[in-house]
Amino acid sequence: MNVTHLECALCGTRHEAQRLLNLCTKCGKPLLVRYDLEKAARTLTREALPGRRADLWRYREVLPVEHEENIVSLGEGWTPLLKASRLGGNVGIDELYIKDESQNPTQSFKARGMAAAVSMAKELGAKKLAVPSAGNAAGALAAYAARAGLEAFIFMPDDTPRANVIECEQTGAQVTLMAGLITDCGAEVGRRKEPEGWFDVSTLKEPYRVEGKKTLGYELAEQLNWELPDVIIYPTGGGTGLIGMWKAFAEMEQMGWIGSKRPKMITVQAAGCAPIVRAVEEGKRFADEFPNAETAASGLRVPRAIGDFLIIDAIRASGGTAVAVTDRELIDATAEIGAAEGVFCAPEGAACLPALRKLIAAGVVSEDETVVLFNTGSGVKYLECFSAS
Ligand SMILES: Cc1ncc(COP(=O)(O)O)c(C=O)c1O
Ligand SMILES: [Zn+2]
Repeated sequence: MNVTHLECALCGTRHEAQRLLNLCTKCGKPLLVRYDLEKAARTLTREALPGRRADLWRYREVLPVEHEENIVSLGEGWTPLLKASRLGGNVGIDELYIKDESQNPTQSFKARGMAAAVSMAKELGAKKLAVPSAGNAAGALAAYAARAGLEAFIFMPDDTPRANVIECEQTGAQVTLMAGLITDCGAEVGRRKEPEGWFDVSTLKEPYRVEGKKTLGYELAEQLNWELPDVIIYPTGGGTGLIGMWKAFAEMEQMGWIGSKRPKMITVQAAGCAPIVRAVEEGKRFADEFPNAETAASGLRVPRAIGDFLIIDAIRASGGTAVAVTDRELIDATAEIGAAEGVFCAPEGAACLPALRKLIAAGVVSEDETVVLFNTGSGVKYLECFSAS
């Protein structure tokens, strides 16, 4: 195992690894896993990868699980990076790609984070796992907890897409639907976790989901033959995938796999819930809570993110930006991407397309750049959203 310790992402306080921890005990911000990357790089080489298993555990040396038997897997990760030529023609970008995360277990990229988090919970002895969720993280936790033989307690807004609720029930989780938003669900988990003996696996309040999500960054580099794209467009709620990719790029540079060049990191949010867009526009590092959050892209209905400063730091350091799109734009984009490329996107993923058009119009992205859109989930989970359109 190559983990050396956990480190607070804000104040840098060192925490012991291999213990069940949530936030920094000093300042209450997220903890990140640190590795002995020199040691990892002795066996994890670019040349060794082609022969490895076709899931995210191919990057085993930079993942936190110590004992092989604790890995809880349903085949997550190593999803295709699809060249999107017809869609590229529509927008005027030759090198346009879709990282299709709908092909994960439970049909979303949340499988990556939950595979890592549930594996670590198993390794460290947690028995009952609780999470607030906009929907897809819930489905993933339910599935991985079932696979691990652990209990899952799930809290979702009562207007979460039906498919997310049903999949949790059908994979053995205890589901509570609440009036309100994901932040209200998070507060309920916070109130009850101690008396109930639950381990809280809320995104970024637990150090390992981001480790699973960072494999998006490793895969992107490997699939593009170790040349990162110029632009990454990512639908952002809590921001775990964006933060994870940014961490992966730094790790890969330390291992000598890539240089210092980074893609422009672009956050996409819905106009009805755009706290990061607002903070970037106002030059802030910490985002204010977005009032009256509302969007059909339920995964983007996150009015306050504990990792806000990490998202914003990555956007700024990369020369990226944050863009808001309307619900009309993201719903229409689902049909456009579907018809052009045969990928039935989650509305969150589809939001990347109108964002790209705005970026081209604003001169932030040019036609000779390589652009990757993240389709983070499957449209199949959102039937009510499309029938209403
Ligand atoms: C399909 C989909 N895309 C994007 C997001 C936002 O992800 P993150 O919280 O990692 O920013 C979510 C979160 O629920 C989601 O379900
Ligand atoms: Zn701290």
